Amino acid sequence: MAEKTINGIPQMGYGTWNRSPDEAYQGVLWALEAGCRHIDTAQGYRNEEAVGRAIRDSGIARADIYITTKIAPENFAAGEPTRTALESLDKLGIDQVDLLLLHWPSIKNEYPMPSYVGELTALHDNGRARMIGVSNFTIPLIDEAIPLFGGRPIATNQCEIHVFFQNRKVAAHCAAKGIPMTAYSPLARGAVKNDPVLTEIGNKHGATDAQVALAFLMHEGRITIPSSGKKERIAANFAARNISLDDQDVTRIRALDKHMRLVNGPWCPVWDD
Ligand SMILES: NC(=O)c1ccc[n+]([C@@H]2O[C@H](COP(=O)([O-])OP(=O)(O)OC[C@H]3O[C@@H](n4cnc5c(N)ncnc54)[C@H](OP(=O)(O)O)[C@@H]3O)[C@@H](O)[C@H]2O)c1
Repeated sequence: MAEKTINGIPQMGYGTWNRSPDEAYQGVLWALEAGCRHIDTAQGYRNEEAVGRAIRDSGIARADIYITTKIAPENFAAGEPTRTALESLDKLGIDQVDLLLLHWPSIKNEYPMPSYVGELTALHDNGRARMIGVSNFTIPLIDEAIPLFGGRPIATNQCEIHVFFQNRKVAAHCAAKGIPMTAYSPLARGAVKNDPVLTEIGNKHGATDAQVALAFLMHEGRITIPSSGKKERIAANFAARNISLDDQDVTRIRALDKHMRLVNGPWCPVWDD
């Protein structure tokens, strides 16, 4: 099955947060073996070198794999986004990354957005990042970023989205601006397992609760990047692309939203809701 893309981004990728270099190496190889061609890492995950090595060792052509990395907000002082992004490319062993994101807005507004977005757009203009985008940006931050991108597309806003936290306010705003959302923590870090509604819908389609949770996000037009350290789960998660939910399933899953935000802390911006 040809990989479906949203604005040029393969709709399903493999996430590597909280994976040690050895785990990330193995996980990326299993994801690629399962057919996945989109890998998500970040400076903050401390596994870029292992991710790059797995991609090379897979024997799959570089051009066939979509790689995302992210600049950590600790690296937003003048000059640092550029320096550390080039370091990330070195670690990954590539000349150009497919997608370079700002991992978070500047923590407590320590650095001015024009400065770090300016370095991001320059990395795009000089060919080091084929696409550029943001992560964890709220509605006001998206509106502040758009003019700073100077007409260059914001390829995605990567945010927490799963059946229990559908994050519709920011998603609707981004949709109105032509920015697709990438759903991180799409399995609610495992909490989707054994949800009775997902299990029931899964039984109807011969699928697991986790697969239904991922199929729903793709139905809603999200790009998604589930993570697992287990070979069978990595393959099963990727196979969720083949599940078609009907209108009744979708209505029932939309009703599971209970504003269960999992990623929160003092480094976060003031959320939209
Ligand atoms: N931009 C950001 O700020 C940000 C923040 C968080 C995450 N992310 C990205 O999004 C990716 C995914 O998010 P995440 O890792 O937070 O959470 P997630 O993908 O929602 O959940 C991962 C957890 O679910 C379990 N799991 C995986 N497949 C499963 C299945 N089929 N059935 C039951 N449990 C399953 C995994 O356990 P096992 O390993 O035991 O399978 C793991 O504990 C990250 O790896 C990262 O790339 C980005």
